[in-house]
Amino acid sequence: MTKRLASVTAEDYRLLAEKRLPTFLYDYIAGGANDEMTMAANIADFRKLCLKQQVMRDVSDVDISTVLSGKACRMPLALAPVGMAGMMARRGEVQAARGAEKAGVPFTCSTVGICSVEEIKAATNSPFWFQLYMLRNRDVVLSILERAKAAGCETLVFTVDLAVPGMRHRDRRNAMGAGGLAILSQIVARPRWAVDVGLRGQPHSLGNLTEVATDTSSLNGYKNFVEEQFDATVSWKDIAWLRSVWSGKLIIKGVLQEDDAREAMDAGADGVVVSNHGGRQLDSVASSISKLPAVVSAVGDQMEVYMDGGVRSGIDVVKAIALGARGVLIGRPWIWTVAAKKEAGLIDLLNTFQQEISVAMALMGVNKIDQLHGGMIERC
Ligand code: FNR
Ligand code: LAC
Repeated sequence: MTKRLASVTAEDYRLLAEKRLPTFLYDYIAGGANDEMTMAANIADFRKLCLKQQVMRDVSDVDISTVLSGKACRMPLALAPVGMAGMMARRGEVQAARGAEKAGVPFTCSTVGICSVEEIKAATNSPFWFQLYMLRNRDVVLSILERAKAAGCETLVFTVDLAVPGMRHRDRRNAMGAGGLAILSQIVARPRWAVDVGLRGQPHSLGNLTEVATDTSSLNGYKNFVEEQFDATVSWKDIAWLRSVWSGKLIIKGVLQEDDAREAMDAGADGVVVSNHGGRQLDSVASSISKLPAVVSAVGDQMEVYMDGGVRSGIDVVKAIALGARGVLIGRPWIWTVAAKKEAGLIDLLNTFQQEISVAMALMGVNKIDQLHGGMIERC
């Protein structure tokens, strides 16, 4: 493979992150469930879509700004919630929230982030989104929601596709085969990470869950925690409860089918994210981009429809928007970028996305985000 002189694309940052992170952490990010078929389909299905070039349209004034969940944004993109980002970069959530703020897009803080909502609020000025997993103990959920609200969060992203954790075989191999010594040798092989994140990035506890999280010092401890605390009994009726305690915007993340999208709407949600959790949950479900059009036709005129999974460039963003998404979320691209090059790397990548969207729209003959439509896409 030729050496890349600088990192520009999401793939460049992935390669760099692989060199910087201990293998078990890289695998946790890069991996998916079971045979990783859905994870692969998320990418492959974007490649099957072609854009239509349209020339001679006066594209001297391309504007890619939009409104996401009631707030003006520089482009139709948000950072997806990613658990344990603070293990990948020193105070990783803070770096990402700052980078997102500078790039003019929303950051979403995960329930299982390392940095607490208070730490993120103290480091930024723009409101960020908060992502919730339903925990068995509703008093803890209430207190987390109170904290998120006090930290200025106005949009709650409620993730519904993790009733149980998916079968992530890379993590299982690392947890089983690589006992303490093997993990230690992976860490020793990454001295830069060991000092910058392992030592100077502490504490590594889950900042929003200090009341309940016990042993999350290893991936195994973290997985046990998820299995013990996440509530698999959750059903649509719990959304009514959530609505009664959360007065801000509510976006349901992890919907693939039209009937589930309608349930979300009937339960009072303001939006849905068409998502298969980046292929990390049920393997063999269809790609998010292939499921987007049906969800848009079912509920798109009544609520905001977002999508995530496999978005790796501004071109992918344009495809999703043309197929009816209000905006996209990116997961792995942002975490690779902060792992590889911190906040500055994320700002660079987001600038690249911004330029890619803008150039693609100009060459498709449109000036505004809402001029993109399904007729501008063909299967190839
Ligand atoms: C995630 N995702 C996720 N989702 C969520 O709602 N809460 C979370 O804590 C996490 N944690 C998490 C960790 C890691 C390492 C990854 C890669 C993903 C899923 C995430 O929000 C998003 O749905 C996917 O990452 C989108 O797919 P791409 O962009 O990674 O292909
Ligand atoms: C994950 C969980 C935390 O995908 O959302 O790892």
